[in-house]
Amino acid sequence: MKANFSKMLREAQNKKYAVAAINVLNHLTFSAVVEAAVRKRSPLIIQTSVATVKALKLESLSALARSIIDAAPVPIALHLDHCQSVEFCNKCCDFGWDSVMFDSSHLPFEENIRQTREVHRYAISKGVDVEGEVGIIAGVEDDISHDIESLAGFDETMRYINETEVSAIAPAVGTAHGVYKGIPVINFDLVQRLSEATRCPIVIHGGTGLSDDTFKRLITCGASKINISTALKLVYTQSMKQYLNETEGTINPLKLDAFVTEKVIELAESLFTLFGSEGQA
Ligand code: 13P
Repeated sequence: MKANFSKMLREAQNKKYAVAAINVLNHLTFSAVVEAAVRKRSPLIIQTSVATVKALKLESLSALARSIIDAAPVPIALHLDHCQSVEFCNKCCDFGWDSVMFDSSHLPFEENIRQTREVHRYAISKGVDVEGEVGIIAGVEDDISHDIESLAGFDETMRYINETEVSAIAPAVGTAHGVYKGIPVINFDLVQRLSEATRCPIVIHGGTGLSDDTFKRLITCGASKINISTALKLVYTQSMKQYLNETEGTINPLKLDAFVTEKVIELAESLFTLFGSEGQA
C-alpha cells in the first residue's frame, strides 16, 4: 500500500529501527523486493535512480510502481534517488513518487540551500517529501559520480535542515556509494549529535559493504533510512551468471527470472531482519 515517506521514517525513529531503501532496476527487482517486504511484514522504501527512471520511462515506471505498491499489504514509499535536476524532481512529483532526493550537494552551500528550497516548494504543493544532502558522499551511483568526499559538519547540517525544511537529511558521514576498497571511517558521533538535535530523519547512503555491527551502531546512533543499491546489482548479475552456468544448453528465461527473483528476495529479507524493520508492518 502507498505510504507517507515522513510518517514511515518517524515511526522508525520512534521504534529505533531503520527502513531499508532499496534501489530497483526493473520489474523483476521491484517485485522481488516488495515480495520480501510482504514475507517479512516490513515497511519499505523503493528507490529509483534517475537513470532507471529514464531507462524504463517515467509514465511506464509510474504505472508499474502503482500497480505493484497498491497490491501489497505493507506500506511502501516510492522514492527518487540522487537527482540533480529541479525539473526532473518536479516531474516525478507529478507522476506519483512519494519523495524525491534532491542532490545539489556539489554546489556551494548557499546555492545548495537555495535550490533545495525551490524543489521543496513544488514538492510540498504536491504532498511529496524531499530528502537533501550535506557534504559530498563519494563513489558512483548510476549517472552521478564523486571522486572526492567532503564530510558534513554539524552546524552546516543543522542550518541546511532548518532553512530547507527537508523531510530527511543525508549528511556525508564517511560512507560511500559502490564497493568499499577499505574499511570506511564513519563519523558515528555526527549521526548521534544530529539525531539528538533534530527530529529530521537521518539517512545513510552507501549501505553496501558495511558490516552488521556498523549498521546496528548507525541505527543506535539514530539513522532511520539506510540506502542499498550496489548489493542488489551484485546479486542480480551474479545469480544470473550462476544460473546460466549451471544450466548451460537449456533455454528457459522464466526459470532464470524465478531463480534471480529468489536471490533478490533473500537479500532484501536479510536487510529487513538486520535493520529491525521485520514485523513492523
Ligand atoms: P550503495 O550502492 O553503496 O549500496 O549505496 C546506495 C545508495 O546510497 C543509493 O543512494
